[in-house]
Amino acid sequence: MEPRVSQASRRTVVVLAAGEGKRMKSATPKVLHELLGRTLVGHVLAAAGPAAAERTIVVVGHQADQVRAHLAEIAPEAVPVLQAEQNGTGHAVRIALDAAPDATGTVLVLSGDAPLLRGETVAALIEAHEAGNRAATVLAAAVDDPTGLGRIVRDASGGLARIVEERDASAEVRAIREINGGIYAFDVVALRDALGKLSTDNDQGEEYLTDVFGLLVEVGSPVGVFVAPDAAETLGANDRAQLAGLRAMLRDRVNTAWMRSGVAILDPATTWIDVTVTIEPDAVIDQNSQLRGGTSVAAGAVIGPDTTLIDTTVAAGATVLRTHSIGALIGPDATVGPFSFLRPGTRLGRKSKVGGFVEAKNAELGDGAKVPHLTYVGDATIGAKANIGAGTIFANYDGVNKHHTTVGEAAFVGSDTVLIAPVEIGPGAYVAAGSAIQKEVPAGNLGVTRAPQRNVEGWTARRRAGTVSAEAAERAAAEKKGE
Ligand code: UD1
Ligand code: CA
Repeated sequence: MEPRVSQASRRTVVVLAAGEGKRMKSATPKVLHELLGRTLVGHVLAAAGPAAAERTIVVVGHQADQVRAHLAEIAPEAVPVLQAEQNGTGHAVRIALDAAPDATGTVLVLSGDAPLLRGETVAALIEAHEAGNRAATVLAAAVDDPTGLGRIVRDASGGLARIVEERDASAEVRAIREINGGIYAFDVVALRDALGKLSTDNDQGEEYLTDVFGLLVEVGSPVGVFVAPDAAETLGANDRAQLAGLRAMLRDRVNTAWMRSGVAILDPATTWIDVTVTIEPDAVIDQNSQLRGGTSVAAGAVIGPDTTLIDTTVAAGATVLRTHSIGALIGPDATVGPFSFLRPGTRLGRKSKVGGFVEAKNAELGDGAKVPHLTYVGDATIGAKANIGAGTIFANYDGVNKHHTTVGEAAFVGSDTVLIAPVEIGPGAYVAAGSAIQKEVPAGNLGVTRAPQRNVEGWTARRRAGTVSAEAAERAAAEKKGE
C-alpha cells in the first residue's frame, strides 16, 4: 500500500499528455509507449494514486483518439480534455482548469512522459505543499547534466525566485544544475490567477507553466521547492533510446524491491518483471526470464532460466524451465519444460508434468498426470495419474470446429497416437502405440488400431544390392551362419 495523504477530497490531478513526441518516430503517441506492463501515462496515473484526487484530468492533443481510447481502458474515471493546439504547458493547464470550474484546493500537475515518478514522492510533495500553505511547489532535482531542462533560480536566502527555460537562460543561469522536474502542486485559486497573466514573450512563443512561479513571487505569494529523493523520478523519455534507459532503471527498481521482500532473482540484469506481477518470498527467478501482465508466482516455485510467463499463475513449488506460457495455471509442485508452450486455458494439477516440446491449449491435467514429450494437447481433460506417450497428438480441429478429448484417470496412451476428437478414453484404459483413435476406449480396455506387421525376407539383398545396408545385412547373415 502506498501512503495516502490526508484531505482526500479537494484535489485535482492534471496530467499533461498533448505533446507530439516527434523524436519517438512512431505511429504510437509517446505517452502510449510501454515499459514493464504499463504505458508511460499509465505509470504517471498510478503514481498519482496517493493524491486521492476528486478528479483527474488528462490533457490530450496529438493522436488524441488513441490516447482517449487507452484512458477509457486503464483509467475510465479520468477525464480527457482536448488541447487542439499545443501552445505550451501553461496553456495546457489553463484549458484543463477551464474544464473544472468548481475545483478547489490543490492541483497536482504531472508530465505524462515521466514514468519513474513514485507515489511516495507525490504524497511527500503534496504534504510539503499543503503543510506549508503555499501557492505553488515545484519538484526539483540536482543533476549532472541539466541540458534542455528548466533551471531553478533561487534568491539570496535560498528561496525560489523563478524557473527559467534553458533556451531563454543566460550563461549564468545555464550553469545551474538544479532543474525543474516538471511536476508541481498548486493552490487552484493562485494558479488560475497566474495562468491568466501568462505571456508568450519567450523563445518558443508559448505559454509556459513555469512562468507561474515568477508571477507568484512578484505578488508575494509563498512558493517552494521540493527536492526529489531520486533525480531519476523526474526523467522523461524523448526518444526510444531514452525510453530503453528508463525501462532498465525501472527493471532495477522492481527487481530490487522483490529481492528485498525475499524473492531470489539470480540475474537481475536479465530479469524483466512487469509492475503488475506478484511474487511470494522464496520463489526463485533464474536468468533471462520475463514475468508479465497478471502473472503471479508462489513460494518455492523456480522459474527459468529463459522463461516467459504472461498472465500465468504458478503455484507453490512448481518448476518452469525454458518455457513460454500465456494464460496458464500451473499447479503446486508441477514441472514444466524445457521447451514447453502453454497457451490460454491450460490448467495443470498438483505434481503434474508437461515436458519437452509439448504444446498445450485449453487443457486440464489432473493431479500427477504426465505429458512428458513431443505432444500437442488441445481442448482436453486428462485425468489424475494418466500418462500420455511421446508424440501423441490430440487432433482437436476438423477444419471447421474444435472438439474435446477426455482421458480418464490413470489411463495410458502409447507413443505416436492420434486421438481424434471428440473422443473418450476411459479410466485405466490403454491405447496401443501408433494407434489412431476415433471411437471410445471404455474403462479398462485396450484400444489398438495398429496394422499387423509382415516381414519380407531377403528384401534388402534383392532390392538394394550394392548399398551399405545390403553389405551390413550380408555380414549379419554370415555371422549368424558362423554361430
Ligand atoms: C518542461 C518544463 C521544464 C522542465 C521539463 C521537465 C515548461 C515550459 N518547461 O519542459 O522547465 O524542466 O518540462 O521535463 O513547462 N504538453 C502539453 N501541451 C503543450 C505542451 C506540452 O500537453 O502545449 C505536455 C507534453 O506532452 C509533456 C509535458 O507537457 O508531457 C511537458 O512538455 P514538454 O514540451 O516536454 O516540456 P519541456 O520542454 O520538456
Ligand atoms: Ca519533456
